[in-house]
Amino acid sequence: MIVLGIESSCDETSAAIIKGSKVLSNIIANQSIHEKYGGVVPELASRAHQQNIVPVVEVAIKSAKIKKEDIDIISFTKGPGLLGSLLVGSSFAKSLAFSLNKPLVSVNHMQAHILAHFIEHEEQKKPQFPFLCLTVSGGHTQIVKVENYNKMKIVGTTLDDAAGEAFDKSAKVLGLKYPGGPLIDKYAKNGNINAFSFAKPKVDNLNFSFSGLKTSIMNKINIEVQKDSNFIKNNLEDLCASIQGSIVSILIHKIVQASVKYKIKNIAIAGGVSANSYLRKKLVDIGIQNNYKIYIPKFEYCTDNAAMIAIAGKYKYLSNDIVTNYKESASARLTF
Ligand code: KG4
Ligand code: ZN
Repeated sequence: MIVLGIESSCDETSAAIIKGSKVLSNIIANQSIHEKYGGVVPELASRAHQQNIVPVVEVAIKSAKIKKEDIDIISFTKGPGLLGSLLVGSSFAKSLAFSLNKPLVSVNHMQAHILAHFIEHEEQKKPQFPFLCLTVSGGHTQIVKVENYNKMKIVGTTLDDAAGEAFDKSAKVLGLKYPGGPLIDKYAKNGNINAFSFAKPKVDNLNFSFSGLKTSIMNKINIEVQKDSNFIKNNLEDLCASIQGSIVSILIHKIVQASVKYKIKNIAIAGGVSANSYLRKKLVDIGIQNNYKIYIPKFEYCTDNAAMIAIAGKYKYLSNDIVTNYKESASARLTF
């Protein structure tokens, strides 16, 4: 089965072709326009998607060395995400499916992050069901109990900011450009994780909160900068290591709690923040300590990409032959 996946939920326009579970092409156009604004500007994002979508899909088909008539199904991100951005991808997918007379399958972006684990790759072990997935991105932070490809339940979620937002907003205070998560990761490598300590959230059950941590980081930096204008410059690596350490320890604590509660020792991570090198390392460490089977996606399938949309579309189509009605609309707050 050959699937074309289309992703346009935020600031990456992506198209991918998969055959079976193998990726033939996965083209991603990033939108650097947002850098100077320190975050994604929705109106600019949808305009950039409009400019990118046709060439990105064309390049995906060409690099996969197939013809568009070879495509069996077309899948696209229905949500969650920025409505204007989602509309570009969903309208394009509908028009193409209509013109080629192919089945159309809508996909939940957060479920697709999880299903990226099933993309075939030599280095990648596929998770065994049931497993718990810590799904951490720029907009979401969830613990998901995954029973099978199509049966998933959110058992914990953030009450305020997402983990990726905590990285990005902290980076902004440090004067780093958007998205700051990868830069914090980079500078943290040479920093001291114990140099600074920040407020720890007190949230019951498996939910998360990052807003108190964010305020605590901002207050600390503002106070120190008033005393010494070079504070950030002189402490950048230690600040990054300490901020990253705080965010990762919150995530790890909750996934361990979830494992105890559900008696599940198959643990996976997914979403943009799962590219974080310290989170990946800590997860391996707790895996060894607690006898978990740990599943970490290949780096390139952590952040937004259309290969994950294609694989999610394939499983949705195969399990219950679900074909999306053309009247089905994009949904900014889609959940499951
Ligand atoms: O999944 P994703 O690409 O887009 C959304 O669906 O939101 O996630 C983007 C988020 C951003 O907040 C970005 O800063 C974060 O993932 N991110 C990282 C790293 N790479 C991406 N955060 C920390 N360390 C990284 N290496
Ligand atoms: Zn995402």
